[in-house]
Amino acid sequence: MNERERDLLRGELRQKLSDVFGVVAVMANKFDRKLISELDSLRVISNFAVGYDNVDVGAATEKGIAVTNTPGVLTDASADLAFGLLLAVSRRIAEGDRLVRAEKFTGWTPMMMLGSDVSGKAIGIIGAGRIGTAVAKRAYGFGMKVFYFSHRRNDEIDKSGGEFVGLEELLRHADFISLNVPLNEETRGLIGRKEISMMKDNAILINTARGEIVDEDALIVALKKGKVAGAGLDVYKNEPKVNRKLLKLNNVVLAPHLGSATLETRAKMAEMAALNAIAVLKCEKPPSIVNPEVMRGFAA
Ligand code: GLV
Repeated sequence: MNERERDLLRGELRQKLSDVFGVVAVMANKFDRKLISELDSLRVISNFAVGYDNVDVGAATEKGIAVTNTPGVLTDASADLAFGLLLAVSRRIAEGDRLVRAEKFTGWTPMMMLGSDVSGKAIGIIGAGRIGTAVAKRAYGFGMKVFYFSHRRNDEIDKSGGEFVGLEELLRHADFISLNVPLNEETRGLIGRKEISMMKDNAILINTARGEIVDEDALIVALKKGKVAGAGLDVYKNEPKVNRKLLKLNNVVLAPHLGSATLETRAKMAEMAALNAIAVLKCEKPPSIVNPEVMRGFAA
């Protein structure tokens, strides 16, 4: 158990895990090659998250350590949060809340705090996995046109009229862009200065995936210039540190990595993470494993 009010430091993690067989880990626990090489009894890293970019899966696999995650159970909660941020930015809800709390609401006026419509606009979804698909579903409910860019076509989105496009086309046509890809070597820095320059003027970016997918400095410049009209961010480059320049911008809504943060969803994730760990230790097939090859010859 981590009984501290903070994340465990590397050395503490190594010490705590030196003679255990399984660990239920959170994203802040970085299982890099060095740490993994030092953990000789470990058989399973059960990540309490769908993303597993905190674990060097290659190093774990080489050592015969199973890496598991919790997909599926957090899909709707994560898509809801993405949409919540989209609405909060476009309709200036957080900014309005600040205004009311500052006792500066002096009455309805025709031009006060005008945001932008959502209905009738185009959303570009980058990454059409489970969460991207769930974001698309919500977008249809709001009367939006859907573009998506992904590794492969997505039948469910196609059937609802979504359009499979290249990244550049998506960036050029979307009024809202939602990032729903995992962080890996392919997606790190996917949205950089060049990609931002391709975006429509007044586009709104929603990132509920991982901070490192976006060049945060380039985004800040674009937000300041109004090239990007607004951003809804749940994740940051140096999480949990948040770039102070973002704190000063009124056109961003900042959430503290709340994608899966509902009581119901976290309970399901906890159960799945526990079942994953138990299954590996019993040499049974876990509900969700990232590197199934380590179980070959074991799992029924
Ligand atoms: C949260 O970010 C997760 O990967 O579950």
